[in-house]
Amino acid sequence: MGQLEGRVAVVTGGVQGIGEAYCRRFAEEGASIVIGDIQDDKGPPAVAALEAKGAEAAYTHCDVTRKDEIDALMDFAVDRFGRLDICVTNAAIVHEAKFFDLKVEDWDRVMRVNVKGAFLTAQSAAKRMIACGNGGTIINISSTNAMMVNEQQVAYPISKGAVVQMTKMMAITLADHGIRANAIAPGPTRTAMLDEVMANSPDFRANIGLRTPLRRPAEPEEMAAVALFLASDESRYMTGQTLWVDGGRAGLNYQMPEEGVSP
Ligand SMILES: NC(=O)c1ccc[n+]([C@@H]2O[C@H](COP(=O)([O-])OP(=O)(O)OC[C@H]3O[C@@H](n4cnc5c(N)ncnc54)[C@H](O)[C@@H]3O)[C@@H](O)[C@H]2O)c1
Repeated sequence: MGQLEGRVAVVTGGVQGIGEAYCRRFAEEGASIVIGDIQDDKGPPAVAALEAKGAEAAYTHCDVTRKDEIDALMDFAVDRFGRLDICVTNAAIVHEAKFFDLKVEDWDRVMRVNVKGAFLTAQSAAKRMIACGNGGTIINISSTNAMMVNEQQVAYPISKGAVVQMTKMMAITLADHGIRANAIAPGPTRTAMLDEVMANSPDFRANIGLRTPLRRPAEPEEMAAVALFLASDESRYMTGQTLWVDGGRAGLNYQMPEEGVSP
């Protein structure tokens, strides 16, 4: 029997990248999955892939900058599968701009998706979890950029820092309802988002090797393993925490020796 048998999970931004890996891992452990995303063409194939593994899954359009669409996503999950136990506020965007170059509209866009979107998603999920009466677990997605900044990206690290604080806020508010809230802060992980960053900065991959004791970016499945821990009862005494899943990156001052850098 899987660790999440009978549970229902909503994952925003779940049609690709790390979000897709969360869906796959939760489904393997017996959860029913509802994906909310804005890439509607990728919804049906993502659902079909989960169903092919024997899971129950559904997709609905949800732009996390829209409260009405978030509420509709949560209602859809409860109507379709009868309960809501797990919510991963995974949808996010990156914007490249330095301090003096950042345009107001780009600041607003990043904050709308990464901060307001994650907050409203968790808030809406928590209301349904309370109504369902089974408790629940919220998993917010931060980043190592919440702790260490990057001159090329002004708004993204600030948005991901906010996710760490909102996780603590949710934890204290939701504890009496049997709902836990924790965050995962991934280090560089091999997805479309990372590929985009690497395309803009050719030295990036070598830098990951030099700046990461484990010498490589993470695979999405390595984040999904941590998400499973936070989603399951194995983490039942944890709330308000951010887990830095970064190959040792945050602990490293200066850099690793050149030898051993993966190609
Ligand atoms: N990949 C990394 O190296 C890395 C590192 C640290 C943190 N993260 C975080 O992990 C999460 C997933 O990252 P990823 O690399 O898989 O990214 P990705 O770009 O591959 O996937 C992001 C998903 O979010 C969706 N999305 C974007 N805006 C949305 C909106 N307004 N409403 C609904 N969905 C929306 C996209 O359509 C996409 O499916 C993000 O929160 C990201 O900040 C990623």
